[in-house]
Amino acid sequence: MRTDIAAPVRLEDYKPTDYRIDTVALDVRLHPESTRIKSRLRIAPREGTAPGTPLILDGDDLTLEGLSLDGMALLDTAYSASRDRLTLHAPPDRPFDLEIVTKTNPSANTKLMGLYRTDGNYCTQCEAEGFRRITYFLDRPDVLSVYTTRLEARRSDAPVLLGNGNCVETGKIDGTDRHYAIWHDPFPKPSYLFAMVGGDLGHLSDTFTTRSGRDVALKIYVEHGKEDRAVFAMDALKRSMVWDEKVFGREYDLDIFMIVAVPDFNMGAMENKGLNIFNDKYVLADPQTATDQDYANIEGVIAHEYFHNWTGNRITCRDWFQLCLKEGLTVFRDQEFSSDERSRPVKRISDVKLLKAHQFPEDAGPLAHPVRPVEYSEINNFYTATVYEKGAEVVRMLKTVLGTDGFRAGMDLYFDRHDGDAATIEDFLACFAEATGRDLDQFALWYRQSGTPSVAISVSRNEAADTMDVSLSQTCPPTPGQATKQPFHIPLTFAWLDPSGQPLNVASPDAPGSADGVLHLNDSKAVVRLPKTRD
Ligand code: SER
Ligand code: ZN
Repeated sequence: MRTDIAAPVRLEDYKPTDYRIDTVALDVRLHPESTRIKSRLRIAPREGTAPGTPLILDGDDLTLEGLSLDGMALLDTAYSASRDRLTLHAPPDRPFDLEIVTKTNPSANTKLMGLYRTDGNYCTQCEAEGFRRITYFLDRPDVLSVYTTRLEARRSDAPVLLGNGNCVETGKIDGTDRHYAIWHDPFPKPSYLFAMVGGDLGHLSDTFTTRSGRDVALKIYVEHGKEDRAVFAMDALKRSMVWDEKVFGREYDLDIFMIVAVPDFNMGAMENKGLNIFNDKYVLADPQTATDQDYANIEGVIAHEYFHNWTGNRITCRDWFQLCLKEGLTVFRDQEFSSDERSRPVKRISDVKLLKAHQFPEDAGPLAHPVRPVEYSEINNFYTATVYEKGAEVVRMLKTVLGTDGFRAGMDLYFDRHDGDAATIEDFLACFAEATGRDLDQFALWYRQSGTPSVAISVSRNEAADTMDVSLSQTCPPTPGQATKQPFHIPLTFAWLDPSGQPLNVASPDAPGSADGVLHLNDSKAVVRLPKTRD
């Protein structure tokens, strides 16, 4: 038996942490091979935590250089530290300050998780579990803290120093060539949204005035000389900001919004609070060589990361099983943005082609998994077409089920009720059920059952009843761990057309559960009777 594989993490085992971390004050001295991170955490036991419950912080490849509690060095017997864990055996039964000093070598970090160097600049990637490669922490999405980050470096090494939130102070360190910047993010966030950047970068500046009249500075940082190639990305950003206000009522919340384009980046881009970091192929467009598709991709990814500010950051995920809560919803939002900005039918066709090319095979193979998985060994393997693209389709179906106004009412309630929360799919669906009075219990199966269902449809004229009878049936093939499926709630939009393709004005169908041109297939088989048109 192999014993080196960690036991899988299961959704059903979810428990909140025993301790909260209310504030994080980081003091980072950037150095290419030896960056020192001093982290001061304000920690408190949660209500109900038994006195003396150990505090276990996550780490990954870390070296502990110092540790103190309320300003006093800890006795060796009070804690144990390894490269992947720091345990306080019996922390105080009251709020306390823990100061942890670690060192890391950004130049040797080829995993591109945590703090690393790319083209001579420092940058970070913390989703999903990269923050633990910077310092010991409760590195999970349901631990929300207010972060202050002080960055210090030699001016020659990193003239630009960026962090999350607003810049509250910058200065020089007398008698040296060092300088610093202090960034404060007032919005509590999980560690995966932490970011810092240091380097010699050029930038493009603009401003945006929100609908309530707040001025926001916009900056896109790129390698010197490439500023012109970020002009389209800046335009896409401003259009995204307008669209989110208009369509979802969401306004930007900090004084500054920054994008940094870097050449080495594993994911497309990352929605770190106020400091998005991008693979530069989704920022830079050279008018001489960029294709129409390059422009569409840049616009889509800029919008996606910006929209995460509300769907992901202000409302985050309780645990990584809920990844589709932010990703499916945000993909849906960026698809809607591109549809409004460009051609809706062309966008829809390209999204469905992508779904069929990537998600359908995934759902039909050995790696099939529900939009919300129930178990993982390595969360990085779950950034899949199912979580992202099928997750977006499920949100689109929800809108079809509820109609435009019902969907918007549910979204408004979700933003209102869960702002500042680490939420679940159940929380999300409850807002739509409550705002519209609809029962979404069966709809929730879309999040639990894997596999691509097929729907068969036949239409026949029923002379006796003077109706058109639409016979519908659904089947879903078995998938790993799910031999049989319960019927999904499948909404089908329909319209009557005359032989020349013109819409016919037909009364709403009289079948129960069908109205406004949407048929609801809730069973494995159903016949929906529609009134026949009359001349
Ligand atoms: N959270 C990132 C994104 O999807 C990961 O790539 O935007
Ligand atoms: Zn995303």
